Amino acid sequence: MKTDTPVDFETFFSARARALQSSVIRETLKITERPEIISFAGGLPAPETFPVREMLAALERVLTRRGADALQYSTTEGFAPLREWIAARKGTPEAPVRPDQVLIVSGSQQGLDLLAKALIDPGDRVLVETPTYLGALQAFSLFGPRFVSIASDADGLMPETLSEPLRGAKFLYCLPNFQNPTGRLLAEERRHRLAEKARELDFIILEDDPYGDLSYAGGAPCSIRSLAPERTVYMGSFSKILSPGIRLGYLIAPDVLHAKLVQAKQATDLHTSTLSQMAAYEVVKDGFLEGHIPAIRKLYGDQCRAMLDALSRHMPDGVRWSSPKGGMFLWAELPRGMDATKLMRRAVETARVAFMPGEPFYAENPAPETLRLAFVTAPRPRIEEGIERLAGLIRAGC
Ligand SMILES: Cc1ncc(COP(=O)(O)O)c(C=O)c1O
Repeated sequence: MKTDTPVDFETFFSARARALQSSVIRETLKITERPEIISFAGGLPAPETFPVREMLAALERVLTRRGADALQYSTTEGFAPLREWIAARKGTPEAPVRPDQVLIVSGSQQGLDLLAKALIDPGDRVLVETPTYLGALQAFSLFGPRFVSIASDADGLMPETLSEPLRGAKFLYCLPNFQNPTGRLLAEERRHRLAEKARELDFIILEDDPYGDLSYAGGAPCSIRSLAPERTVYMGSFSKILSPGIRLGYLIAPDVLHAKLVQAKQATDLHTSTLSQMAAYEVVKDGFLEGHIPAIRKLYGDQCRAMLDALSRHMPDGVRWSSPKGGMFLWAELPRGMDATKLMRRAVETARVAFMPGEPFYAENPAPETLRLAFVTAPRPRIEEGIERLAGLIRAGC
């Protein structure tokens, strides 16, 4: 019998898997790994901010003192001291956080997947900002929602557009602080209006906040959870303040939903890496972040200014961009009629510079002239050079 008959896997895939497309983010990251490319594409934190020495010392301490525990299976909810630390850091007098409301996840991206599993049936309406985080659109899409795009402007999503026809929507996914991809900050007054609207129309809020600590001036408006703790799931991450490679994030959820998310996580991966959790706790427990976060804010604020200066110096008339007050990204618009996806291809091929076209960040009706520029990965002289090259292409009308 012939044993090497090719298998047509397409016929075996589930309908869900057939609908999957490869991630534009990952594909882009592959290109940007080439050293000759100046990349403003991926959302990669600056490697010089990674606490390599501190992690090494922490791992040594953890393995010396509690090696067997660190290498053993552990609870789905997460390492108790880390959950207590998160609860103490994120609780406010109006909205305290109990450690048993915290669920440690393998990166907040897993939080998005677990929430989608727990909440979305095919055809359910899911409200998203315009534009929104591409990774969330991917995570939710697997479960077949109908996305409804909520209008947004420079101050974030516009709660006044949430009206009666949206009653029955499952949840609203929002990024109030230095949003990916636009860098926008949701105005304080809109946070209050959003909390009211959620109560009035009875939907859940998923508040995704990986960038809240990265305000250049320090501080950020109140969290949405603090305004509606009974119906908000808050998502946090260690990726942008410690390291994305350790894959550590967390959810703070109301009790009944928390229990469902624990069941979903059990079925997904049993628990988050015990070693990562114990080492991260060892790094942060005595106040390391009090000095580390301000250093990251200073670096990113300087890099942001360098990109804004380069854009002012080099971009032709008709190109517009945002001025973020925190985070890792700014959002730009090309002159009307230009297509950022086409420009991206030309930019990589001929100018050796990369960025993210805006299109995949829209759930519907993409604006082809938009793009996202990450200013934290390339060092400052390369930012100047990359923007100059990109401006040259735009001026040439590519
Ligand atoms: C808005 C947003 N949510 C979630 C994530 C995923 O982060 P994590 O590394 O914690 O999985 C990212 C990553 O860039 C993001 O920008």
